[in-house]
Amino acid sequence: MVRRKTSELIVRQRQPDNREGLPTIFNAPMTPTEWFFVRNHFDVPDLDAQSWSLRVEGAVDRSHCWGLDDLRSFDQQTVVATLECAGNSRARLGDRASGVPWQQGAIGTAAWSGVPLTQLLDEIDIDDNVEELVFVGADRGRLETADGGSVQTPYARSLPVEKALSDDVMVATGMNGEALIPDHGYPARLVVPGWYGMASVKWLVRIVAITGRFQGYFQTEDYATWEYDDDLAVRRPLSSIAVKSHIGSPIDGQRLAAGQTVTIEGFAWGGEGNIEAVEVSVDGGDTYNDADLIDSPHRHGWQRWSYTWAVPKNPGETTLLSRARTDKGEVQPADHDWRKGAYAVNMIRPVDVVIKPSE
Ligand code: MTE
Repeated sequence: MVRRKTSELIVRQRQPDNREGLPTIFNAPMTPTEWFFVRNHFDVPDLDAQSWSLRVEGAVDRSHCWGLDDLRSFDQQTVVATLECAGNSRARLGDRASGVPWQQGAIGTAAWSGVPLTQLLDEIDIDDNVEELVFVGADRGRLETADGGSVQTPYARSLPVEKALSDDVMVATGMNGEALIPDHGYPARLVVPGWYGMASVKWLVRIVAITGRFQGYFQTEDYATWEYDDDLAVRRPLSSIAVKSHIGSPIDGQRLAAGQTVTIEGFAWGGEGNIEAVEVSVDGGDTYNDADLIDSPHRHGWQRWSYTWAVPKNPGETTLLSRARTDKGEVQPADHDWRKGAYAVNMIRPVDVVIKPSE
């Protein structure tokens, strides 16, 4: 098995293995695989490409099974997509938030290649009354139950059929031009561009068509939030990534010479919407100005932006902020919405800089 050097990622939890990217991930449009965060709920399963297979069963005409060579016989596609863990930036919430204390680095952008899921499902007659497809990974472990005991379960998440059949959802076997490595789901994983990372089930071995809503642990307990439906509190699984931006440079605490010109730059991403604008404030949020969007709009990958700032001539301190907006009208908020619990942390992030006298 190919394991990677831990030094290229920051360890947030050893058992199971959870590591996030260094701040340098925000300096490059694509995240090298060695720098790409790893989010595991159980131990990485030891899978062998020769014996691996993906079975589709449940409410279908008859069950189907594909090996890795079968997958290669379908048309392949490559999609650049940003994967963000739903708990990314949770550390900003302080002690009130439980879960792996991710800073900013549980995110990365990679070129994923594989078979569009629609192509695979075209081979199958799914019953008309199927509502969801459940994607099951080969990793499994024990979870505590309310009675003090525990149950064994694999990692599993579902998608509504319409989403599963939408463009760009794929069974990926490659990442950044090479075969997937075990940490990222070797030999095959689901990739659901635009949705938080929990939907992109790694080490995919089974797809089950069901006629109701999946009630699994990672669907209703983890990666779900309370919402109010006509006064009734209902549990809703998390789905698309909330709009967010990040200043990659300058970094927090950086000292900048008074009177010089500085480029403030970073990335913005918006789940299922395109980034329409990024605004930058150099005065702690009193005023905002439009940043330039670099590269053309990118449906599922993060969008690079920059802003040229004439640093004031007088030494002092100030706070830089960036605020993104999508073409669906979603705007990055100033504060966290606690109804989302410790997930979807997308509020504007301040970067404090020091303006030092020029030499
Ligand atoms: N798939 C399986 N089988 N097991 C897991 O623990 N973690 C999910 C998802 N798929 C997970 C999984 C979560 S929460 C995230 S954020 C992404 O994988 C992380 O993908 P990565 O480790 O390749 O970055």
